[in-house]
Amino acid sequence: MASIAVYSVKGGVGKTTLAVNLAWCAATISRRETLLWDLDPANGSGFLLGVEAKKKRAAQSVFTADEAPEKLIRKTAFDNLSLLPADESIRTLGRQLGSIGKKKRLAKLTETLAKDYDRIIFDCPPVLNELSAQVMRAADLVIVPLPPSPLSARAFETVVEEVKGSGRKHPPILPVLSMLDMRRTLHKQAREANPKWPAIPLASAIEQCAVTQQPVGAIAPRSAGARAFAQLWTAIERKLAAKK
Ligand SMILES: Nc1ncnc2c1ncn2[C@@H]1O[C@H](COP(=O)(O)OP(=O)(O)OP(=O)(O)O)[C@@H](O)[C@H]1O
Ligand SMILES: [Mg+2]
Repeated sequence: MASIAVYSVKGGVGKTTLAVNLAWCAATISRRETLLWDLDPANGSGFLLGVEAKKKRAAQSVFTADEAPEKLIRKTAFDNLSLLPADESIRTLGRQLGSIGKKKRLAKLTETLAKDYDRIIFDCPPVLNELSAQVMRAADLVIVPLPPSPLSARAFETVVEEVKGSGRKHPPILPVLSMLDMRRTLHKQAREANPKWPAIPLASAIEQCAVTQQPVGAIAPRSAGARAFAQLWTAIERKLAAKK
């Protein structure tokens, strides 16, 4: 099993879109048994996959009341892809985890799920607290989506510094230019400044994911967006294999 976090301290940078589409790639292209674990109380991943939680306000019980995560996991419409939905009960999860005092709570829960899943992908909220610190302890790889700008590299360094500051060790961190629009001068400059970074194009097919509640690979498999997610997923699998 390998776990991958999609994380940034910034909101609205494309984390949920990336997490859902990468999870779909893991399940469909790599045929890995995949769990998408939504850690954001907004439950964006659940929304994008059209999956409702089984119970109301139950998401926190996994952390605070020893509820087995298996009891809350839902199958999605896609083969090999399951979802552990979020809800508003985890709005203060950072604080709750702090008061539980178990620094590896999320890592331990993730380990127990390794018997059922090959890939676990965390959709993270834009926070820097005990939750993000626990994500760094649980993840084998962290993907950081960055809106393209001349300051992208600096923004990435900031995230890395913040991650480093929250614990001694941290997993490898992979920057991804998100919502790249090569018609825009600043985006072009950001691309040229970071030619090796993976990039996801700004695309209406990707935007449609929220309308159709399906990953772009399912609705527009030949689109540039679907190809970019597939390419990024292949690069992630390669990175995970090299880590072993
Ligand atoms: N590559 C893309 N092309 C077009 N639209 C995109 C793309 N990526 C994300 N979006 C749109 O941008 C908005 C923000 O994306 P998303 O919800 O994935 O960001 P987020 O980082 O998870 O936000 P939050 O911090 O609120 O959880 C959404 O409306 C989404 O549809
Ligand atoms: Mg989100």
